Amino acid sequence: SILNEESLYRPDFHFTPKANWMNDPNGLFYYRGIYHMYFQYYPEGNVWGPMHWGHAISKDLVNWEEKEIALYPDSLGYIFSGSAVVDIHNTSGFGTLENPPIVAMYTYHDMPAEKAGKVDYQTQAIAYSLDDGYTWTKYEGNPVIKNPGINNFRDPKVSWDSINNSWLMTLATTDENFIYRSDDLINWTLLQKFGEGLGAKGVWECPDFFPMKVEGTDETKWVLLQNLNPGGLNGGSGIQYFIGDFDGTTFTLDPSFEKDLELQKAIWLDYGRDNYAGVTWSNIPDSDGRKLFIGWMSNWDYAQVVPTKKWRSAMTLARELKLVKNNNQYRVYSNPVKELDDNISKTINQKPVKTSDEVLIGEGQDIDFNRVKIEFRIPNINQAKYVFTLFNSVNEKVIFGYDNVKKEFFSDRSKAGDLSFSDKFGATQTIVPIYDDVYNELKVELVLDKTSFEVFYNDGKSSMTEIFFLSEPLTGVSVHANGNEFELSDIKISQLKFD
Ligand code: FRU
Repeated sequence: SILNEESLYRPDFHFTPKANWMNDPNGLFYYRGIYHMYFQYYPEGNVWGPMHWGHAISKDLVNWEEKEIALYPDSLGYIFSGSAVVDIHNTSGFGTLENPPIVAMYTYHDMPAEKAGKVDYQTQAIAYSLDDGYTWTKYEGNPVIKNPGINNFRDPKVSWDSINNSWLMTLATTDENFIYRSDDLINWTLLQKFGEGLGAKGVWECPDFFPMKVEGTDETKWVLLQNLNPGGLNGGSGIQYFIGDFDGTTFTLDPSFEKDLELQKAIWLDYGRDNYAGVTWSNIPDSDGRKLFIGWMSNWDYAQVVPTKKWRSAMTLARELKLVKNNNQYRVYSNPVKELDDNISKTINQKPVKTSDEVLIGEGQDIDFNRVKIEFRIPNINQAKYVFTLFNSVNEKVIFGYDNVKKEFFSDRSKAGDLSFSDKFGATQTIVPIYDDVYNELKVELVLDKTSFEVFYNDGKSSMTEIFFLSEPLTGVSVHANGNEFELSDIKISQLKFD
């Protein structure tokens, strides 16, 4: 086959725009059988520029179809990140009860004002759609929230608060999160400023705030996802979160979570370098009940120089988030949406082994490692380092795993093909100490799509998402424990098929 940018680097089942620059997912909502996803988009170049909202739709959160651009910049500014909701009760009055409006809320970024040295260049605005999100009308009274005199004031995330029967919205400032309430999506009242002195510092962006049922209980806790850049765990962009209670006016940290924060400084949704600006879908029916999430699969440290020219950036797999309580500790777990499995063309179960050698996954089988899901289990982990390697025919490698001596997850892109485009991409090995786990066994679920790995450890308690750009396709995956004897069981390889 001829290796070109498309065949080598265009993922099969992670959304990429056909051409040009993309960053954050925006305006995620579900309606009438369709998952909508908008995204920060610059249609005229492959680096960041005047922001539009691009648009894509999917019936299954896995196969995406790009649509027409939804929002164009105008005299009030570039269209920065934001969210969208289905206004079922027509509280805004933009539609009717028979045909409820979809309402998007986004940030205007006024470039000339910023260049002129003003601080109040970001404001919040709304637009509505009366045709299920395909075409949009901007509200004539924009902006709906003026800037209070702070330079970082953006990324409104609206949700329906079914406990208090009105709209909630949260946006990010440099190191605080503002929470607002509204009855009509137009008039907003500030309820709370949250976060001073808490968590990882940097510039907070793209928050999301929602209640979740603790798995297997009737207990509800509120989760605040708080993306930030810089300030990520291994530099650049990252997603931290907070867990607590919300009485309709005030969000307070859960005491046990507060203790975890003291020890760990920040709790991360993903320990890899390439999951950012992640937020969740609105209007998921109760009959489904899932909390569905997607992130931008890149990092501001190098996103604009990665070696794809026609398009830049992909989204992560859509994921299901779960809130789990274990040993009095609350954590948000993430896993690929189950719909991924509808794209499996064959499954191979491999015999368990006990060895101190390197094990080749799927040895002797006809497997395409560029689009595959691999699961296995290491039942009794010892004082050893467990190393998973993705490799190709020219000895390029992507290495990651779990070090049970140091109690660290790690990833190493220093042999991962072309690193010349950025000294931040491969040079530093990313090491992640874990504080919250003693693993007796390691369950691994790994999803590969040409230029990315997403690994989910122990049912999604910890995950790592990273991208890489090898000069030849992947030809295999191996597991070893640095010469220590280990067991590998429940090995299952699911070939993914897309056309
Ligand atoms: C996050 C972000 C947002 C902003 C958008 C601009 O990646 O910086 O805060 O709205 O990107 O494209």
